[in-house]
Amino acid sequence: MTTTETFNLLEPYLIAEETFVIPWALEAPPVGHFPMNSMVIRGAEPVLVDTGAPAVRPQWLEAAWSVVDPADVRWIFLSHDDRDHSGNLLPILAACPNATLLTTWFTIGRMAEEWETPISRCRFMNDGDTIDAGDRTLVAKRPPLFDNPTTRGLFDSKTNVLWSVDTFATNVPTPMPDVGELSDEDFRDGQFFGGRLVSPWVAMLDERKFRAVVDDVERLDAEVIAGCHSPVLRGPRMAEAYDLLRGFPRFRRGRSSRRPTSTAGWRPPRGRFRRNSRDRRTPDRPRAGGARGPPLMLVRVLSWLALLAGSEATPVGDDTR
Ligand SMILES: [Fe+2]
Ligand SMILES: [Fe+2]
Repeated sequence: MTTTETFNLLEPYLIAEETFVIPWALEAPPVGHFPMNSMVIRGAEPVLVDTGAPAVRPQWLEAAWSVVDPADVRWIFLSHDDRDHSGNLLPILAACPNATLLTTWFTIGRMAEEWETPISRCRFMNDGDTIDAGDRTLVAKRPPLFDNPTTRGLFDSKTNVLWSVDTFATNVPTPMPDVGELSDEDFRDGQFFGGRLVSPWVAMLDERKFRAVVDDVERLDAEVIAGCHSPVLRGPRMAEAYDLLRGFPRFRRGRSSRRPTSTAGWRPPRGRFRRNSRDRRTPDRPRAGGARGPPLMLVRVLSWLALLAGSEATPVGDDTR
């Protein structure tokens, strides 16, 4: 287990009392990296919140079992069936005989294309439903942005941690535990870029109606927001993220039809990763003083180009699964 000071990919770190994020990230040329996180709540009745991607199954399982004994896991909350969230579901169900799967029927139905999920181990949670997890009440809540219609977030009323699933997705120059490490500009650019990537349909929404949806989620009064595709949000950054989100429908794209699809010239940031003792990719810490060289400027410019051009060329349903 790590802390935010010793952040390593696929090593859980504490974000609130008995609440851990399992961080992972993809290289995402030319815009940097995309987080691919999961969460564990080690309460009286431990909860796995999403199940990680199959691409890193052994490391993900090792990370989860470093936080909680699989025999003690009581609940598996599955936000939706996209593979970055559901990819290790079957091995986890096998390893956790005392766990009940919390999800929707629609999620189960969509996964039936690939596998049969034992219905006898499921309890369906729709928007607004709650579950008593012993020392806390968990609330299923559909987040404002999503790339899959089955999506439900999870709010822990004991720690006030919100699992926002794909909402607040952002690219990052290098994997990091907390959005506080981003500059104001990178934070704002990333929220727009990630949001429109996950949910290009947001440009079609009535702003007033969408604002009410965002307000409703903000009224949960979360103190910490963790999501699959974002470092953790807290404090002023959380309030700013909600404000940005409310303005998404009125954000106007440019006329450019160009899209930075080429990765020619892309190189993983030199020296930003090293192999640790367990052969995991470990991001180096940002340089002192936040020094940023030309590659990051390029990332920022290309991020905006992608944003400006992306929604124009992206049909509804072309999501990030
Ligand atoms: Fe998704
Ligand atoms: Fe996702």
